[in-house]
Amino acid sequence: MNSPFVYGRIAADASFTDRIEETAALVSDFKNLTNTILISPRRWGKSSLVRRAGALAQSEKKNLRICYIDIFNVRTEEEFYEKLAAEILRSTSSFLDEVVANAKRFLSRLIPVITAGDPINSVGISFKTQDVKMSADEILDLAENIAKEKNLELVICIDEFQQIANFGDSEAFQAKLRSHWQLHQRVAYCLYGSRRHMMIEVFTHREKPFYKFGKTIFLEKISPEKWPEFIMDRFRSTGKEISRTQCEWIVRKVDNNPYYIQQLSEEVWNRTDSICTDASLDQAFNAIVNMQAGLDLALTSTLTLSQQNLLHAIVDGNKELTSAAVMGKYGLKNSITVLRAKNALIKMDIIDNFGKEVTMEDPVYAYWLKNVYFG
Ligand SMILES: Nc1ncnc2c1ncn2[C@@H]1O[C@H](COP(=O)(O)OP(=O)(O)OP(=O)(O)O)[C@@H](O)[C@H]1O
Ligand SMILES: [Mg+2]
Repeated sequence: MNSPFVYGRIAADASFTDRIEETAALVSDFKNLTNTILISPRRWGKSSLVRRAGALAQSEKKNLRICYIDIFNVRTEEEFYEKLAAEILRSTSSFLDEVVANAKRFLSRLIPVITAGDPINSVGISFKTQDVKMSADEILDLAENIAKEKNLELVICIDEFQQIANFGDSEAFQAKLRSHWQLHQRVAYCLYGSRRHMMIEVFTHREKPFYKFGKTIFLEKISPEKWPEFIMDRFRSTGKEISRTQCEWIVRKVDNNPYYIQQLSEEVWNRTDSICTDASLDQAFNAIVNMQAGLDLALTSTLTLSQQNLLHAIVDGNKELTSAAVMGKYGLKNSITVLRAKNALIKMDIIDNFGKEVTMEDPVYAYWLKNVYFG
């Protein structure tokens, strides 16, 4: 029997829970062609939410097309243009011939190279050229031009958008994107990414090109009360049983993190024949901690001593990190040391200063630090 839980992949259909208001808001933004920017710590459900909202919006509005692009592996401006052009052609064409025809009509210099596949989603599209950059302007307006001609509307969703901050001469590139995109009438952009710190830098700094580009949504965690029903349902769908109290334990143990809730639920499910026992809860959690201990150790060994000491103070539950007592106890020299270490850890997305206080982004890493590494 297959596990009814999903983690590390897009959560869809029965694997997707709640987010009712966020989904409705995003669907309406897509239908209204409002530019949106989605920011949250890692693994809180950005990609899944965008996919769901995109599917719904498309089903509700006939001439709307949603184009999904993930630029995690994109390293240069040229690669970006190529990927953008290919995905726009793909999402606005129903047949192979149409891809070729659109490329011919809207991209004067680029000749598409199609590698076989059917349906259209599995077709490979690349271009016969060394110089995509020459066609940059055409590519950046490709969606708008196709939309106009075919009476379509388009939402281009770009995942891992913070990657663009790593391109050479990134600010000039960002300025170029913005100068094109802000003129579009029939195309909207939904930009999101998993490096919260970098996303904030691109979108919320006054002097940067993408400042106030669109509606910025800081995604919250799914509230803890929503999960038990979901977990119980998923167990039931495979003929197994888990109690509400046990589900609440799962949610609490991983600090209400959606990814870990699904992972821990799966590990518990694996250890359940028909009715879940309390013993399997602890075993499942320990299994996850052990599974990632190697990675946790590798990450920790890249940190400076001050950064490690500060993490020690944080996972022990201290709030006043620059108080003399905390600095003394954890070997932190002075408040400047604390501040520097804190900023570095925020930059690495290890800690968050989202709310009023500093929190650990990864609850399992926090547990491992406290109980194994420092314990
Ligand atoms: N609405 C949801 N319902 C159920 N599970 C969810 C939901 N959203 C996220 N998850 C769980 O969290 C995992 C991560 O979700 P997703 O990849 O959408 O998040 P993300 O914010 O895009 O992550 P990253 O920051 O790594 O890009 C999913 O694989 C799933 O296990
Ligand atoms: Mg994602």
